[in-house]
Amino acid sequence: ALITLRQLLDHAAEHDYGVPAFNINNMEQGLAIMRAAEAVDAPVILQASRGARNYAGDIMLRHLIQAMAEMFPHIPVCMHQDHGNNEATCTSAIRHGFTSVMMDGSLEADAKTAASYEYNVEITRAVTDIAHWVGASVEGELGVLGNLETGEAAEEDGSGASGKLTRDQMLTDPEQSVDFVRRTKCDALAIACGTSHGAYKFTRKPDGEILAMSTIEAIHKRLPTTHLVMHGSSSVPQYLQDLINAHGGEMPQTYGVPVEEIEKGIKMGVRKVNIDTDCRMAITGTYRRIAQENPDEFDPRKFNIPAMEEMTKLCKDRYERFGTAGHA
Ligand code: G3H
Ligand code: 13P
Ligand code: NA
Ligand code: ZN
Repeated sequence: ALITLRQLLDHAAEHDYGVPAFNINNMEQGLAIMRAAEAVDAPVILQASRGARNYAGDIMLRHLIQAMAEMFPHIPVCMHQDHGNNEATCTSAIRHGFTSVMMDGSLEADAKTAASYEYNVEITRAVTDIAHWVGASVEGELGVLGNLETGEAAEEDGSGASGKLTRDQMLTDPEQSVDFVRRTKCDALAIACGTSHGAYKFTRKPDGEILAMSTIEAIHKRLPTTHLVMHGSSSVPQYLQDLINAHGGEMPQTYGVPVEEIEKGIKMGVRKVNIDTDCRMAITGTYRRIAQENPDEFDPRKFNIPAMEEMTKLCKDRYERFGTAGHA
């Protein structure tokens, strides 16, 4: 059955677990996620970016979601808009059956100017009003995703920011987050703690200098009942880098967010953990392997079946490590 983000994360908070939010663009990713959830009895957050909505089309996505819910009737599914950029994106998602939206008012933000903060509060509050009228949930975001090693904001994040940012400019301000949640009434708050989207998050295994789990702790202390969201939370596991590179890929060595750090985050109020890159790597690494091992193969199912299995393995692992398993 479809449920809202609020319903799911309230349950997660009550029972001290976190929920991975996996990105979905097509049927194969959907099946991989749902099969993993079914295998370990976990509730599901499927999320679609604006890019995913353009790729598959809103009508296709709406029916895909309904198909997932129908095929796996005992698994609660939250369908969430990832990084909505304005009211139109969020309301059209709800109209197409999404039960939750992210209004990312930090996308447009210059690093921490008063004007960009007010813009973020106002647009998030406007979306929350609309969403709550029709029973959908809202995730807001405060802070700038980006690399604390280089001071570079992610390309799509803090786009108004020019030049290198300081640590203070990027990380979510704990005091400001109290004001933000009170004024926007958002159901979940995405924070910036040094993670960024994609595979190239860190040039070394992250420590507290470059992955600021202390920021999460400080926010949780001030907002103990707010559901926190970690973006850019792929672990970019070595075995998937090796799978890709062993079969013709050329990914430079990189480091993601260690799963044990996410486990610590879950103890500090993190309830939603966004993962896209790891799933992409599981799928395309398998495509590379099949293509190299079977150069005469041309049936896409021969690529997609093992690719889905590799992604299901990854998703199952996250459901187990985040404590989601057993809570469907
Ligand atoms: O926000 C980042 C997610 O990984 C979605 O990526 O916009 O390429 O679909 P995308
Ligand atoms: P990754 O690129 O680390 O998987 O992050 C995904 C994400 O945050 C989607 O919103
Ligand atoms: Na941001
Ligand atoms: Zn994100």
